[in-house]
Amino acid sequence: MAIERSLILVKPDAVVKGNITAILNRFESQGLKLVACRMLKMDEKLARIHYEAHVDKPFFPGLLTYITSAPIVAAIFEGEDAVARCRAIMGPTNPANAPEGTIRKDFGENIERNAVHGSDSVESAKREISIYFTPDVIQEY
Ligand code: RTP
Ligand code: MG
Repeated sequence: MAIERSLILVKPDAVVKGNITAILNRFESQGLKLVACRMLKMDEKLARIHYEAHVDKPFFPGLLTYITSAPIVAAIFEGEDAVARCRAIMGPTNPANAPEGTIRKDFGENIERNAVHGSDSVESAKREISIYFTPDVIQEY
């Protein structure tokens, strides 16, 4: 297995409810290394870039309203097989289908307000990381 990086977002619903550090801890406590982190508010321009695969989907208007409604935390977690491990820690898109102990089961509200984003492939991770972080702010330790 290779060392990978995944772009994680703590989404507005989780930020507003005070669940930022609880969610970041789910990844850190599984041995994934936090190598970059920042807080920001998405605007429509950024949302259209981040969710470029979804802009024509029927759920996009709702997603846009939600994702720009409050700040988010963007983070990079690094480790062996990080993309798949982060997705497993998160659980499936819909919290109603999420296993016990996953972030979306424990913190998500519904298929839209589901607490967290994680890259779905190494290629997506590279694209998404470059949206939020320049290489010089990604730490090595
Ligand atoms: P994410 O990209 O946020 O990690 O989530 P995902 O891969 O599990 O799900 P994806 O299909 O990429 O959808 C992106 C986000 O759009 C919202 N969504 N709403 N109302 C709906 O039917 C619906 N479907 C998706 C969710 O916030 C989802 O995480
Ligand atoms: Mg996705």
